[in-house]
Amino acid sequence: MKVFSKQVDLAAALAGAEGKIGFVPTMGALHEGHASLVRRCRAENDQVVVSIFVNPTQFNDPTDLKNYPRTLDADLALLEKVGADWVYTPTVDDIYPEPDTRQFDFGGLDQVMEGACRPGHFNGVGQVVSRLLTIVKPDVAYFGEKDFQQLAIIRYMVRQLQLPVRIEGCPIVREADGLALSSRNRLLTPEHRAAAPLIYQALKEGVAQAGKRPVEEVRHLIEQKIASSPLLEVEYVNIVDNATLREITEWTSAPLRVCVAVRAGAIRLIDNMDISVK
Ligand code: PAF
Repeated sequence: MKVFSKQVDLAAALAGAEGKIGFVPTMGALHEGHASLVRRCRAENDQVVVSIFVNPTQFNDPTDLKNYPRTLDADLALLEKVGADWVYTPTVDDIYPEPDTRQFDFGGLDQVMEGACRPGHFNGVGQVVSRLLTIVKPDVAYFGEKDFQQLAIIRYMVRQLQLPVRIEGCPIVREADGLALSSRNRLLTPEHRAAAPLIYQALKEGVAQAGKRPVEEVRHLIEQKIASSPLLEVEYVNIVDNATLREITEWTSAPLRVCVAVRAGAIRLIDNMDISVK
């Protein structure tokens, strides 16, 4: 495994590498969820590239950026174990030699949920992901479905910019008690960590009622179940159409998701679950 901090060096190394290039962009603080992306990338490609970069332009909250966990040594050890070939760990200057002033139009996909709660977040994601894809030039790039809205926005951007890359979404990986893996989980207090699996339980209960009770009732049931813990504060529970990310009012056979954001003390957690209405 080779580690580069400059894009020119990475590009030179990849120019001589043979076969299909798979890419997993990350912000580090890697966990089993990232490991599952890299394993899949390893299984489907000849060259496995992983980037570790805490992208400042996608943080709307400076405290969140400051506190974001940074665990480079452990990250590199994990990547070596799961079989990455190339790791790109750039500085801010290497990615943004000049400030990125681009404003993306994501066709409204960024107007709801995370986009509404975190102004500018997805524009920053668009800036960094388009740059990373241009630097690495992968055949395939892998993203986790935990960030379901991000995945939809990246697919949209790749189509709009006609970037020659296939985007693959990979399923959420959970702790044994159901909490979706996230780099931010390690920042939870023990009390908030103990309360957090209620999010998964609420999603499961809600999804089991899909098609049986009205949409708004199911949405409310999930919200109430999470809010039954005094340690969890619901930001949103949205039942959305996968393609538009708009809330639905009636059950349909189109692919649907329930997406939630919850505050657990100082930490914001997001999660989602697939809904199929029989
Ligand atoms: O999902 C993430 O970790 C980040 O948003 C990404 C895609 C690596 C861009 O910084």
